Amino acid sequence: MKRILVTGGAGFIGSNYINHILKERDDYFIVNLDKLTYAGNLENLKESENNPNYCFVKGDITNSELVEYLFKKYEIKYVINFAAESHVDRSILGSEIFYRTNVIGTNVLLETARRHEVQKFLQISTDEVYGSLGDEGLFTELTNLSPNSPYSSSKAGADMMALAFYHTYGMPVSVTRCSNNYGPFQFPEKLIPLMIINALNNKNLPVYGDGMNVRDWIYVIDHNKAVDLVFEKGKSGEVYNIGANNEMPNIDIIKLILQILGKPETLIHYVKDRPGHDRRYAIDASKIENELGWKPSFNFETAIDYTIKWYLENQKWWERIISGDYQKYYSIQYSAK
Ligand code: NAD
Ligand code: TYD
Repeated sequence: MKRILVTGGAGFIGSNYINHILKERDDYFIVNLDKLTYAGNLENLKESENNPNYCFVKGDITNSELVEYLFKKYEIKYVINFAAESHVDRSILGSEIFYRTNVIGTNVLLETARRHEVQKFLQISTDEVYGSLGDEGLFTELTNLSPNSPYSSSKAGADMMALAFYHTYGMPVSVTRCSNNYGPFQFPEKLIPLMIINALNNKNLPVYGDGMNVRDWIYVIDHNKAVDLVFEKGKSGEVYNIGANNEMPNIDIIKLILQILGKPETLIHYVKDRPGHDRRYAIDASKIENELGWKPSFNFETAIDYTIKWYLENQKWWERIISGDYQKYYSIQYSAK
């Protein structure tokens, strides 16, 4: 049995990972440590909650006593660190919690993992650490880190710490850097679920700037299959980019969502741009493809259709979210625009 501490497993990608992996592998025992911030939701894990190979602990990765206690109690030998403050716009409104969780929290996990001689520490990171591209080129693992937002700078810090633990202590660390994810259970502050839900509610769709910023979209299950491969077969001290070769300007995605939902383009509202808005992200994933044999299995047309259907069929899930604290954030974020 592999005894794995998965952090942030009640969020979007972590919960999809746990639900997916418990069906794939019966030799994993997963301890999910999650603080249940606004973004953490145990409803995402309904299908896994009674699995005997799974347990949930509510807590903060910055709490070193708790983390130490969990390593001892569950004899943890593996860590997959999904936990993070993850939204760029929130990091612009207030950066402190981003550095606390993403940097200090990762350091607590690394130090505890080192003491307990873990056999693998997988740091889940983002292509945003590379900064912004012009019209040409792709991020490779050799691209210099040049993060531009408080969010991406905190993730870059965590990546470098994790790799430093490999170089200094020989800790078996790998880092994955994935492009923008979409799929079920994504919190409706991120572009795709926000636009789906606003369109369903006949509310304005706030487009930053000219709508021509480009993101490289990947379905969350493809990301998690890559995470699994790097966790099982990735080399220590190495970084693996993950992306599905699917660049799209924001406005094209927004128009596609409106078209699928049969809603009018008059809902589109151009608003003030995000400060420091990165223009383009695009991933070269040839390393993980060539070295580990990964490739994405979902195409965008099918998976975006499925995702939209999921939000249509799971209205209660997102209605409960937007009726609560999220409303406060929404009114601050979009008030002056
Ligand atoms: P999310 O915001 O949906 O979930 C984050 C989870 O972490 C939540 O459940 C939250 O409660 C938990 N958390 C936050 N602070 C914590 C703390 N101090 N202690 C314990 N738990 C805490 O984020 P996501 O989109 O699922 O992203 C997961 C990871 O993947 C993050 O590390 C993010 O940087 C990375 N990533 C995300 C994307 C994307 O498109 N969403 C792309 C590439 C990489
Ligand atoms: P987001 O989902 O926040 O992901 P990230 O900033 O981490 O890439 O945003 C994706 C793109 O959509 C980004 O270019 C910003 C843009 N965007 C809007 O135009 N309007 C919005 O209301 C949001 C949330 C994002």
